[in-house]
Amino acid sequence: MSASGILTLLLLTAISVPFIQGNAKQESMDRGKEIYNQLCIVCHQADGKGIEGAFPPLAASDYLMKTPDKAIHAVKYGLQGEITVNGKKYNSVMTNQNLSDEEVADVMTYVMNSWGNSHEMITVERVRKVAE
Ligand code: HEC
Repeated sequence: MSASGILTLLLLTAISVPFIQGNAKQESMDRGKEIYNQLCIVCHQADGKGIEGAFPPLAASDYLMKTPDKAIHAVKYGLQGEITVNGKKYNSVMTNQNLSDEEVADVMTYVMNSWGNSHEMITVERVRKVAE
């Protein structure tokens, strides 16, 4: 291949890779939104702010955004006992939501990129690695 051919190939790759990743993230978010609206919304609310004293927020949640693997663990296996979210204590129970690793990845990608939250896509591989 000529030098200019290689250059064109490199350029095309550089342009298309972020595009393909962006699509995958958007599709994951779309699936995640459906899961959220079916399962999570009753407690964490449409605006992701939860209900103070009962259900912790996901919007701007330090627990979610600073310790994503703990949050993945909570959604994958359930969570109970005292936790602190944005300086406020919660001591309640979130039952295991019985989601597949794919569904956990989608709903986490959605909540971590909604209501002002911004994060890279949560992949199935990452969810798979979060052990009980
Ligand atoms: C029946 C109510 C309920 C449902 C449904 C529910 N949660 Fe929760 N969630 C809670 C409670 C209560 C806690 C805090 C548990 C504790 O105090 O240990 C929590 C904690 C969390 C946390 C960690 C704390 C934080 O605010 O960052 C995340 C993340 C989370 N939930 C996400 C989800 C997602 C995603 C779904 C849907 C798949 C979901 N939850 C469904 C009640 C619920």
